[in-house]
Amino acid sequence: LAPWPGVINAYRDRMPVGPDWEIVTLGEGGTPLLPAPVLSERVGCEVYLKVDGANPTGSFKDRGMTMAVTAALAEGKKSVLCASTGNTSAAAAAYAARARMTSAVLVPRGKIALGKMAQAVAHGARILQIDGNFDDCLELARKTTADYPAIALVNSVNPTRIAGQASAAYEICDALGRAPDVHCLPVGNAGNITAYWKGYRAYADDGLIPALPRMFGFQAAGAAPLVHGAPVKNPETIATAIRIGAPASWNGAQAAREESNGLFAAVTDEEILAAHRLLSTREAVFVEPASAASVAGLLKTAAEGRLDRGQTVVCTVTGNGLKDPDSVLATAPAPEVVPIDPSAVAAALELA
Ligand code: F0G
Repeated sequence: LAPWPGVINAYRDRMPVGPDWEIVTLGEGGTPLLPAPVLSERVGCEVYLKVDGANPTGSFKDRGMTMAVTAALAEGKKSVLCASTGNTSAAAAAYAARARMTSAVLVPRGKIALGKMAQAVAHGARILQIDGNFDDCLELARKTTADYPAIALVNSVNPTRIAGQASAAYEICDALGRAPDVHCLPVGNAGNITAYWKGYRAYADDGLIPALPRMFGFQAAGAAPLVHGAPVKNPETIATAIRIGAPASWNGAQAAREESNGLFAAVTDEEILAAHRLLSTREAVFVEPASAASVAGLLKTAAEGRLDRGQTVVCTVTGNGLKDPDSVLATAPAPEVVPIDPSAVAAALELA
């Protein structure tokens, strides 16, 4: 079996790459589409998880970053810059290292999960914290790259990122032989929902799938501009990855919802944490809090009677749980100390 070639080479004819470009890849994509029996039973649908935390840097951002850094290298850029709530910075740092480019990441001070910070540091990025939120970081990144053309902006406002991330929709259609009826996503800056919708539409236009899915986008209640229809000035949520008040791909997200007859809805931090617990303890899939928003939204829409039974549903779980260990350990009981004695160990499992 040939090794998975990464998303550019897997879907070469759909990627905006020149014939002799050096492809910067870490083997991203080809992630599991995992049946979710517990969720399926709960909502009366056939539910799958697209486990994009299984990407090389642990999030879906790698799909877009392979394209953005490949294009930046071909254009002769010397360094890459991004604004990030953490995952984009981890991916940018890794792909820049692979491309022998320097990188810097603009992040909101104190609002980045530990694992993501560690990744950016390990891959050699300059970490630039600002006293502001993601939206402020993005504005600064845009201004900087406008003034300094040798620096590539690798946020999803860069269309190559969207082209790369559309690969997840191709993979799902290739695996199912069709699109799902409903696709659930957590939404922050709204690049991913834009990318999935583009991907599904491209497959439909080419006659590869008979019908398009409905796109369900879920935001954290304290950071839900698309649900309210207006930017949120001071977004707040435990799901730091989607703590965003002014999504850059606003129009793309709106188009996805309108054209697909989909919906946007808000989920509370409590609902996110409950979905996270269910994913971890029942489906055995460890995700970061933002990723659980797609599942929280699925459970909520089903409970509200807004999800027809018997449908095929895909929830993308966007990032690996190891990214944000603090969020789990903060509420967990301290590990117990036991005597060096088999009966004590067995008692812990209630077998004695
Ligand atoms: N899930 C995770 C784990 C994310 O890191 C993000 C975005 C999203 C969902 C939302 O995706 O922005 O395309 O709507 N993270 C960005 C970052 C903003 O900087 O890492 P989106």
